[in-house]
Amino acid sequence: MKYAHIIGWGRYVPNRVMTNDQMAELVDTTDEWIFTRTGIRQRHIAGEQDTTATLAFEAAARALAVANVSPSQVDLIIVATSTAEYAFPSTATQVQSYLGASNAAAFDLSAACTGFVYAVNMAWQAIATGSVKNVVVIGAEMMSRVMDWEDRQTCILFGDGAGAVVMQGSSVPGGVIASALHADGSGGNVLSLPNVYKNHAAIMSPTYELNGADKNVVGMHGRQVFRFATSVVPDSIREVVAKANLTVKDVDLVIPHQANSRILESAAKKLGIPEEKFYSNVHRVGNTSAASIPIALCEAIDEGRIKPNDKVIFIGFGGGLTWGSTLVRWGSKAPDELKLLEREWKRTRYVMARGRAKLRQWGRQLSAYFTPSPNPDARLKDAEKDKDKKKGVD
Ligand code: UT7
Repeated sequence: MKYAHIIGWGRYVPNRVMTNDQMAELVDTTDEWIFTRTGIRQRHIAGEQDTTATLAFEAAARALAVANVSPSQVDLIIVATSTAEYAFPSTATQVQSYLGASNAAAFDLSAACTGFVYAVNMAWQAIATGSVKNVVVIGAEMMSRVMDWEDRQTCILFGDGAGAVVMQGSSVPGGVIASALHADGSGGNVLSLPNVYKNHAAIMSPTYELNGADKNVVGMHGRQVFRFATSVVPDSIREVVAKANLTVKDVDLVIPHQANSRILESAAKKLGIPEEKFYSNVHRVGNTSAASIPIALCEAIDEGRIKPNDKVIFIGFGGGLTWGSTLVRWGSKAPDELKLLEREWKRTRYVMARGRAKLRQWGRQLSAYFTPSPNPDARLKDAEKDKDKKKGVD
């Protein structure tokens, strides 16, 4: 049996900050309304040059530095995202190229705000079977690109960013201990982001009147999502704790999806544990969907909230509807050691990786140019000759 330990972590949020007051210049809202209803004070908004893949790359490169794992040692990259720039190539393959992780397989995973929890589970399973050793799991989102900036119910909630962890197989007990994933597609209409068949999907959806049929933007029934979240968060935590043969009191820290501080208050009350056990950074970054848990995890580590051997729960919930929890027994890494490794983060390695990717692109172009595909006329003539030969034999 292989255990899956989290040995590296990194986050990246764009520099540009948008405060609630700035939001109030766009839509009819106030800082007070947003803060009292959600706990959000500001969010980060990506620049024009950013893509989901560039945010994901920045977080992954930092996580690899902390893990002291080189890109060539990575076997698998999973990017949880709902805002992939392309259906294909996947964000994960773009990140694979930026990192120069030439031995890694790569794919995107779609489970909305629960995506990171799903992806950690998939990485855990792959490591446990022994098929891979080092996996980079990333949550990355560019929510600002899929917002209806006239819908004050949704655009105030979301922000951009990315977070990543490096998971490694080991025979030392610990790491991921238990996980529980769920989905209920009957609730697909309460939180949606139309994709390829955008008009069709939007017309089918009761959110049609909310977000309009012509736009690929997030549509949401806020109250329904709120009620769903306040019910599944405590249930899911109880479930994963029971799977690990522990009690809720044994949990040292919960890193929840950062959607709304009122959801976390309600969950803490239902579980009978202090609210401080729920880490929250929603006031700084807003809801970054699949990126929210790994970003919060990194901040919690920076603040010294996680110690070796702590039992930490990741709990996600969101579109699909999807929800799930993962319980991790934290490993040990001294903070001093971490700072040293972060300094070792070598930018030049990634500049060279991009150079190599460009060379391979040119190589493919040249090889296609000098190797024309077989002439179809010649193939037809060959086929006729074969027929004649056959007739002769008959
Ligand atoms: O990752 C999961 C993503 N989604 C979520 O987590 C969303 C979960 N839901 C929520 O967080 C809350 O439902 C919201 C924050 C979206 C809304 O809070 P609420 O307490 O459920 O408000 P509401 O929708 O019941 O609206 C109350 C009032 C309405 O006005 P009237 O009809 O009472 O006059 C809204 O029009 O607040 C109004 N309102 C706003 N007012 C100022 C809605 N959005 C805003 C706004 N600023 N941004």
